[in-house]
Amino acid sequence: MKSLIVYCSSHGTTEKVVGILSEHLDGEVVSVDLKRDKTTFDLNDFDAVMIGGSIHAGQIQRSIKKFIHSYHVDLMEKRLGLFLVCMREGEMAVEQFNNAFPVELRKNSDAMGLFGGEFLVSKMNFFERQIVKKVDGIISDQSKLDVEAIIEFASKMNPLKSMV
Ligand SMILES: Cc1cc2nc3c(=O)[nH]c(=O)nc-3n(C[C@H](O)[C@H](O)[C@H](O)COP(=O)(O)O)c2cc1C
Repeated sequence: MKSLIVYCSSHGTTEKVVGILSEHLDGEVVSVDLKRDKTTFDLNDFDAVMIGGSIHAGQIQRSIKKFIHSYHVDLMEKRLGLFLVCMREGEMAVEQFNNAFPVELRKNSDAMGLFGGEFLVSKMNFFERQIVKKVDGIISDQSKLDVEAIIEFASKMNPLKSMV
């Protein structure tokens, strides 16, 4: 199996998630950070595509939305995984997920994951620090990454051994 992971990460947490996910996926994994790598894709080169980003002020990164818009038709034909990194939990997290990914893709996906997140105050700029202090009362680093959810997501994306 050859997989593509397309992601976007502001302070490195989604990138960390992609590292853990890659370790648990079978076969070859190509990961592309849309913030860093301005590239075009031929999705025919991949058996599976996974798309993930993080939430800031309720929204996933614009480059993820743009990627989904540009490759929507191809993505509908793919083995597909969608994941989100964020600090809200429960219904609020689900609402953010549903807002980040169009309903047709969600319906067509083989795996969907909410992986928690991290507040990395040390990596935030002045304005971000003010926001998380005001909104969440956060003044030091905090990690709530759900590694088990990442591993479960990977197992859903991996083809059954008998089919390989
Ligand atoms: C300025 C700011 C705003 C944020 N807004 C939200 C939000 O609206 N909802 C949420 O669930 N998490 C929010 N977060 C938490 C991020 O989703 C979390 O820090 C995530 O781990 C960032 O991942 P990244 O480093 O890969 O971008 C916010 C974080 C920052 C710094």
